[in-house]
Amino acid sequence: MQTDIRRTLLEMFTNAEGEYVSGQRISDLLGCSRTAVWKHIEDLRKEGYELEAVRKKGYRIVTKPNKVSTNELLLGLHTKKIGQNLHYEETVDSTQKIAHRLAQEGAVEGTVIVAEEQTAGRGRLARKWYSPKYTGVWMSIILRPAIPPQHAPQLTLLAAVAIVQAIQEVTNVLPDIKWPNDILVNNKKLVGILTEMQADVEQVHSVIIGIGINVNQKLEHFDSDIQHLATSLSIEEQKEVNRAALMQAIFLKMESLYEDYLENGFGLVKHLWESYSISIGKRIIARTLKATIEGHAKGITNDGVLLLEDDNGTVHHIHSADIEL
Ligand code: BTN
Repeated sequence: MQTDIRRTLLEMFTNAEGEYVSGQRISDLLGCSRTAVWKHIEDLRKEGYELEAVRKKGYRIVTKPNKVSTNELLLGLHTKKIGQNLHYEETVDSTQKIAHRLAQEGAVEGTVIVAEEQTAGRGRLARKWYSPKYTGVWMSIILRPAIPPQHAPQLTLLAAVAIVQAIQEVTNVLPDIKWPNDILVNNKKLVGILTEMQADVEQVHSVIIGIGINVNQKLEHFDSDIQHLATSLSIEEQKEVNRAALMQAIFLKMESLYEDYLENGFGLVKHLWESYSISIGKRIIARTLKATIEGHAKGITNDGVLLLEDDNGTVHHIHSADIEL
């Protein structure tokens, strides 16, 4: 089925809020025959929409599939760029890998690659990212900012702020950010962000922001060795969370922060990031590849580097580390 017909049909059913829409009205609005309407309805059923048909009343939507399909994500999405060009897959190895390929092939800014499941999801520091089917948000967003490569980490912080704001809008969960890019609730990991880029010495070609959010997993879905370290929105909320609504909120927040960032610089993001951070102002331990440094987290630089003052008063610039609070 063509995407625009599908979109119009779903819009119609969504606006009807569970009430019946007559076959005649649908055929008028789509400008097609009643037989063609019936065919479109069958196509939606094949995609997992449960639609009820009653003689003389018409059709109504009973349930939507538990998917973050292009249909669900585009319906009512009011961004200019982010998410408007969507690549949806049921199963992929890693959305990051696909995003790198599409970026190289010239994908437009704001392109999003989303999957229901990743078989080889990648985390920071060459770790694996567990991404089971239909339970989380596993996506990569392609941006093309005209910035020098050393500023790219600022976009990780921008994404973290957008995600925290979106989670607060869609749920009652109030997450914190742990430097550089973990989003936690009660000290348990909820979200991971992996930012990678394609660049030459002077200029960024593309920044790929990979976002993994544990949304509807139950505790037993996590391996027993990480159950005390990880959580999901549904564990915190004690109910299922609509993944498509969450993603749309992220796209909107990200777009508005990104526009401000391109126009006015890093100031707003830095300020918001520090306000959501649980590392800043605290005593922390930073484990880098070379050393373990304990001290007071003073803040971040304009490049997103963590400033850590040890007990001798030396301020260390931490570019990459695991942080213990
Ligand atoms: C982390 O280690 O905290 C970062 C995890 C990032 C996971 C996301 S899921 C979508 C995207 N595709 C990947 O393979 N990884 C990122």
